[in-house]
Amino acid sequence: MNRKIILKSRPEKEPLNENFQIIEEELTAVQPGQVQLKSIYLSLDPYMRGRMNAGRSYAKPVELGTVMEGEAVSEVIESNSDTFKKGDVVIGRTGWQTMPLVSEKIIEKVHNPDLPLSLALGTLGMPGRTAYIGMMNIGNPKKGETLVVSAASGAVGSVVGQIGKIYGCNVVGVAGSEVKANYVKDELGFDHCLNYNEDNFEKKLGEICKKGVDIYWENVGGKTFNSVYPHFGDFARIPVCGVISMYNNQNQQLEEDRLPMLFRNVLTWRLRIQGFIVSEFPEQKLEAMQHLEKWYLEGKLKYKEDVVEGLDNMVEAFQGLLRGDNFGKLLIKVN
Ligand SMILES: NC(=O)c1ccc[n+]([C@@H]2O[C@H](COP(=O)([O-])OP(=O)(O)OC[C@H]3O[C@@H](n4cnc5c(N)ncnc54)[C@H](OP(=O)(O)O)[C@@H]3O)[C@@H](O)[C@H]2O)c1
Repeated sequence: MNRKIILKSRPEKEPLNENFQIIEEELTAVQPGQVQLKSIYLSLDPYMRGRMNAGRSYAKPVELGTVMEGEAVSEVIESNSDTFKKGDVVIGRTGWQTMPLVSEKIIEKVHNPDLPLSLALGTLGMPGRTAYIGMMNIGNPKKGETLVVSAASGAVGSVVGQIGKIYGCNVVGVAGSEVKANYVKDELGFDHCLNYNEDNFEKKLGEICKKGVDIYWENVGGKTFNSVYPHFGDFARIPVCGVISMYNNQNQQLEEDRLPMLFRNVLTWRLRIQGFIVSEFPEQKLEAMQHLEKWYLEGKLKYKEDVVEGLDNMVEAFQGLLRGDNFGKLLIKVN
């Protein structure tokens, strides 16, 4: 049997249980060019919330009644393909399902199957590449500069900050709890990490960033952006990777329209604010993987995973991801 989670309806704000449905189906014959997979780890990522909305975005929404989109690491259990054989470990956008039957065209072999497989969905996968590509193309880190990273304990943020350390930056993380902040400092080696829920967060941020922020890595948006923005230095670079605090609230209005002032400061502070999507840099994929793997093997990239067991717990884990309940790269272990 294959068990899969389909999108039943579109959420207005937070994704609700009723927006999803678990469906069971019999496995069918593997046609030429197809591969029968057994999923091992399913990835949960913030972008999936965007795919639940209709309307304009950089990618098409998931159609109602179809399987939720997502990447997974899987084992080939039957193959009718010349490229893959039984026992291969592969990665691809095979969706929220336990036994997907897929075209050989949407999967590839895991880059280094000797490393822990889950890493292919985190530090050595799409989130790690996001960090690398955003830092190399937009952040452009230089020795002695101050880099501020939001959602610092997460899949992307943890790699961004560690790349910052490799390049000799003074790295300041921002995270949602004391426990996360301590982990970011003590385990990941950031110079500082502040808990944005602490009363004196803004004051401490100002003290630490007295010389100005050279790079602000935006993962969160909203209040975190508002707190860091006054500290941007001249020629600051702001890779806009994500704005997770706004994903459940598409019509969010700020109390005050700060856009005209931001535009003025873009000019007078000569800021570079640039959104980017990792999948739009395919030519840098291999370079990113090689650097990340090398740094990992040299002990320069530490990581933390938050592994939830079973497809039945996937929706709840996804709802938690959009509230910050996860601590590290969120994965669903299914087989
Ligand atoms: N542009 C791209 O190509 C690309 C690719 C991958 C990811 N992204 C983006 O990168 C960001 C981080 O993704 P990730 O995979 O690394 O996830 P993650 O950091 O592992 O998990 C999300 C984290 O965001 C924070 N968060 C969640 N809800 C929040 C809220 N309402 N307000 C403030 N913070 C909240 C939480 O951390 P705290 O508890 O510390 O607040 C949570 O742990 C997301 O915005 C994602 O969309 C972009």
